[in-house]
Amino acid sequence: MTSDDLLARHRAVLPSWMPLYYDDPIELVAGSGRRVTDAQGRSYLDFFGGVLTNMIGYDIPEIREAVERQLRTGVVHSSTLYLIRQQVELAEKVARLSGIPDARVFFTNSGTEANEAALLVATNFRRSHQILAVRNSYHGRSYAAMGVTGNRNWTASALNPLQVAWLHSGERVRGLLSRLDSADRIDAAVEDLREVLATQTAGDVACLIAEPIQGVGGFVAPPDGLFAAWKKVLDEHGILLVSDEVQTGWGRTGEHFWGYQAHGVTPDLLTFAKGVGNGFALAGVVGRAEVLESVPAISFSTFGGNPVSAAAGNAVLDYLRDHDLQANAARVGAILADGLRAAVSDLDQVAEVRGKGLMLAVEFVRPGGSEPDPALTGRVFEACRAGGLLVGKGGLYGNVVRMGPPLTLTEEEAREGLAILVDAIRTSVVAA
Ligand SMILES: Cc1ncc(COP(=O)(O)O)c(C=O)c1O
Repeated sequence: MTSDDLLARHRAVLPSWMPLYYDDPIELVAGSGRRVTDAQGRSYLDFFGGVLTNMIGYDIPEIREAVERQLRTGVVHSSTLYLIRQQVELAEKVARLSGIPDARVFFTNSGTEANEAALLVATNFRRSHQILAVRNSYHGRSYAAMGVTGNRNWTASALNPLQVAWLHSGERVRGLLSRLDSADRIDAAVEDLREVLATQTAGDVACLIAEPIQGVGGFVAPPDGLFAAWKKVLDEHGILLVSDEVQTGWGRTGEHFWGYQAHGVTPDLLTFAKGVGNGFALAGVVGRAEVLESVPAISFSTFGGNPVSAAAGNAVLDYLRDHDLQANAARVGAILADGLRAAVSDLDQVAEVRGKGLMLAVEFVRPGGSEPDPALTGRVFEACRAGGLLVGKGGLYGNVVRMGPPLTLTEEEAREGLAILVDAIRTSVVAA
């Protein structure tokens, strides 16, 4: 309970469909590096980073100073009707990093708006509102973004401006394709795509939108190479590929800078959000000029790429590069993944330890099968918090513990968090 009963005040004025974590929700009042402190003075190692968004960590001097420099100019906002130096610089960096040739960048405030913009562009370019999306996906909370979201728990309305046909995900633990090994799963997914095109679409289709690793879906990844195999079929029809990199971007997966690179293909459009602002509202879409320029009317975002967010974004990307955080994600992520596999893979309740770099998950099931166990997951989640570690939850059935710590996580912090997590899992399993 917070001293001024913040929880009661929260519940009195904020909607209940916006959930709070933990039986006894916490207010974070201070942060430094990878650690946060709550209103009761308890300290936590943060393995979730405000949902993969505090990508560099808390109170990073280089980012704070860049934002303060911009604030001191007095221009917090000007609108995109005027030239914004920070925005142009950031667009240059993002375009270069994107891997997309002759790229244009449009900035928004959230991942939802970024995907909305990608869908706007794709539907205009292709003169079609037919979209292919993937089961178990999450792309945001607007009507179009919800419309391509394949998770009922996150689909607050069935109203949909798009016509959507659904593909199988790369789910390994359950679902039709899970019965197959990696190579066969790619073949089956391609066959599925051909069948969906033949049976559920008519005429031109605008795009396929997919996450390289499904975030909200519980860090479910298709076999590497699936996007390239899909793209061969898409190219036969001129259908665009949109890679939603809101969770997988900026080196988080360790092995690559973008999730799409594991698939050996470059998408036509790429959306980004979360980590690039390290907490400042910053997101956007990148695409080839001919695609991104297809919007036939004025479309602008009042706050998208504003001077303060863009200053933060520039500082974040400089910090990432200067400290080679992608390499750190690979190195420290391996410590966590190997340690977790060694310590809990033997448990019947652990269906899978999965992920790449610093994007890792543990899926919990009832022993002897693949029936999800959200209750056990909840106990592990609370036990982590009691032990001083913040983690996330996810998965279609709420039975996945997710970790997306700042990419600056040190080896010592990884080992410290690992010990808390392993203890939380082992004690929760015994208590079942
Ligand atoms: C893959 C993905 N796309 C889009 C979104 C939506 O982003 P936002 O919450 O910033 O609108 C999210 C948010 O979790 C996401 O994980």
